[in-house]
Amino acid sequence: MTDKTLYVTQPHLPPLEEFLPYLEEIWERRILTNGGPFHQQLEKALCEYLGVEHIALFANGTLALVTALQSLRITGEVITTPYSFVATAHSLLWNGIKPVFVDIDPHSLNLDPRQIEAAITPQTTAILPVHCYGRPCDVEAIQRIADNYNLKVIYDAAHAFGVRDAGGSVLRHGDLAILSFHATKVFNTFEGGAIVCPDAKTKQRIDHLKNFGFVDEVTVAAPGINGKMSEINAAFGMLQLKHVDAAIERRGQLDRQYRDALGEVAGLHCLPRDGAARDNHAYFPILVEDGYPLSRDALYARLREHGIHARRYFYPLISDFPMYRGLPSAQSGNLPVAAGISERVLCLPIYPDLTDEQQQRVIDVLRACAIPAFASQAPCVSVPCA
Ligand SMILES: Cc1ncc(COP(=O)(O)O)c(C=O)c1O
Repeated sequence: MTDKTLYVTQPHLPPLEEFLPYLEEIWERRILTNGGPFHQQLEKALCEYLGVEHIALFANGTLALVTALQSLRITGEVITTPYSFVATAHSLLWNGIKPVFVDIDPHSLNLDPRQIEAAITPQTTAILPVHCYGRPCDVEAIQRIADNYNLKVIYDAAHAFGVRDAGGSVLRHGDLAILSFHATKVFNTFEGGAIVCPDAKTKQRIDHLKNFGFVDEVTVAAPGINGKMSEINAAFGMLQLKHVDAAIERRGQLDRQYRDALGEVAGLHCLPRDGAARDNHAYFPILVEDGYPLSRDALYARLREHGIHARRYFYPLISDFPMYRGLPSAQSGNLPVAAGISERVLCLPIYPDLTDEQQQRVIDVLRACAIPAFASQAPCVSVPCA
């Protein structure tokens, strides 16, 4: 029926031969982890590339989140968004912290600052917002509230690699920001993550925490964890960094092409990318509105029949999962915007190796299904199959 299954993303990999010299260096040195030379090089290179002062690398973004909360000694209740990947809230449970879900803004799909104050209690110690899809939060409004109530702010910036606002990297905001370098991300190290820290002292504390709490050979200062990134992941990151600008540029091209092709399709709404001075085009979310002949789930299924695996990020909401749904803040009456968006959103394939022809396949199905007569027909009748 179709030439190749298209997934919502495909990890970006440089040519294999470019990685071999890095491996040879590792084999020669026999330093495999514990802050080796590639680890140090990558921390420095990322600071330069991203325009931030201090970075601590991690084995993945989840460990970075868990450790970020530990490093600031966050306890009690933390205000966060239900509209994210589940690791955001899981990091709170792993620290024995109670998540308090607050609804999202209908335009940015990020935590709505206008709703935060009403959720603050004497137990609230921090806010954990997400720059969802790499679109910056209203960082000024969030910081004002944090300052007024003496709260810490930790940004889950897992989607926001390379994103800049008018003043520079979006990662400079808050007390800490965490990144994910998972295979599905704009910049990947197979698995990986990082904490962006404001000063050397905080980075040092985080470096201890990610190494079991060891301060020196005989001193353990805290119940730390093993969060270290290995040399092989760090070496791969050094190589990926050489390719990341080209990868983001191609993502930008695909983003523009989707907008040009879908802008006029009644009932499909492309989220505007208006919050950043530099986007990373990590995702291409659309909202399937009432004016479209198919529901979101019917369109999702129709795309699958054509070998196109779009994803419903973020459905279900985090607050609907069993470990969260009993919380008072998880009730859907408290989260009407997030609940509505999560029923309508669909993320389309976007990644550097997606060809124009493959993207056209996606566009053809979306356009064909916009015509009611076609929408009701069998998939291979509605769109000519290659
Ligand atoms: C918003 C968000 N937070 C946290 C994470 C966790 O990152 P990792 O998969 O690197 O542990 C992800 C990852 O997929 C994410 O999308």
